[in-house]
Amino acid sequence: MTNPALAIVVGSNRRDSINRKLAQGIAKLAEARFDVKFVQIDDLPVYNQDHESDPPAPVTRLKNEIKAADALLFVTPEHNRSIPTVLKNAIDWGSRPYGQSAWGGKTAFVTGTTPGAIGTAMAQETLRTMLNFLGVVTLPAEAYITFKPGLIDEAGRIADESTRKFLQGFVDRLATLTAQTAPDKQRSAA
Ligand code: FNR
Repeated sequence: MTNPALAIVVGSNRRDSINRKLAQGIAKLAEARFDVKFVQIDDLPVYNQDHESDPPAPVTRLKNEIKAADALLFVTPEHNRSIPTVLKNAIDWGSRPYGQSAWGGKTAFVTGTTPGAIGTAMAQETLRTMLNFLGVVTLPAEAYITFKPGLIDEAGRIADESTRKFLQGFVDRLATLTAQTAPDKQRSAA
């Protein structure tokens, strides 16, 4: 039996994104239980309903990659107490045309990091509301990560042991939830 497919969506298009670094660290924790793939969202055009029925190629690619996934990992910054534009754009494209959303039925773990104290809590809450509306089964999670120098090491691993264990717990819970949701795709998660 194969591992379930995990699509990772990073809510930042910044070259040196700390959320991408964190996502790469979590990906290493997930590789034993998931087939992991990063989904590109920074080349999507701005959403326009006029183009829904004949979408640009990056939109078709995004939808195919999401449809192929069993589980989703979102690692997002917070922009002005909400999610960044680039992520909202991807969610909107993936949700349309009406009745043909790519998101429904997936499981998801939502997290994010910021140098600030509240660790993207507002952005995560906003994102979970959207995902629940779209039929994604989100892990009940409060994984608010304050980014500090040394959190990620040179090899891209989560160097801080307590953060690594904390996030490993959520990855394991996502594997269990995904096994319950798509049991044919899981080796032995439960
Ligand atoms: C921010 N930042 C920020 N941080 C936060 O904790 N809460 C917030 O509401 C905001 N708002 C905000 C708006 C905009 C437009 C920008 C550019 C930045 C700071 C943010 O956490 C910081 O830039 C991170 O480095 C963003 O993550 P990436 O892009 O490095 O992954």
